[in-house]
Amino acid sequence: MTQVTMTVNGKAVSGDVEGRTLLSEFLREGQRMTGTHVGCDTSQCGACVVHVNGEAVKSCTTLVLDIDGAEVKTIEGMTNADGSLGVIQQAFQDHHGLQCGFCTPGMVMSAAALLKDNPKPSEAEVREYLEGNICRCTGYHNIVKAIMAASGQDVAPMAAE
Ligand code: FES
Ligand code: FES
Repeated sequence: MTQVTMTVNGKAVSGDVEGRTLLSEFLREGQRMTGTHVGCDTSQCGACVVHVNGEAVKSCTTLVLDIDGAEVKTIEGMTNADGSLGVIQQAFQDHHGLQCGFCTPGMVMSAAALLKDNPKPSEAEVREYLEGNICRCTGYHNIVKAIMAASGQDVAPMAAE
C-alpha cells in the first residue's frame, strides 16, 4: 500500500492505495463519493468521468498512483457554494436531460469540460464530444439541448423530445 494525497472538490484527502487501485474505486469506496458511477469495464460508457487537473478523464481507466497530488473534481463539486445546482446541472433538470440518472454525473462532467474549451458549441460539436458518454435512457436529444442551454444559446427552436 502507498499513501497518496490529492485535492477532491477543493478538499485535501489522502488514502492508502494499491498499485492497481482505480480512481473510480478510490472515490466511491475510499471517499464515499458515489456520484461517480461505473457502467462498464471497457472504458466506453463515460459514467465515471471526472476532472483531473482540469481535464475530463475516465476515472475507471485512471490509476490513483499515477495522479498523486492532483486536483480532482467530481459531480459532488459541481453545485454552487450555497448548495444550489450549478448551471449545467440546472439545465439538465430544466430540459429533462436525465431519466435514471446513472449516466448524468459523467455527462455533466464531460459537458463542463466541453464548455470550458468551447463555450458556444454547435449541436454537432456537442454530439461529437459526447461520443465517450453513453446513455441508455434519453436518446441524447435532451442532453444536447441541456448543454446548449447551459452555454447560453437559445434552444427554443430545437424540437422537444
Ligand atoms: S465506467 Fe465505463 S468508461 Fe468508465
Ligand atoms: S439517464 Fe439513464 S443512462 Fe442516461
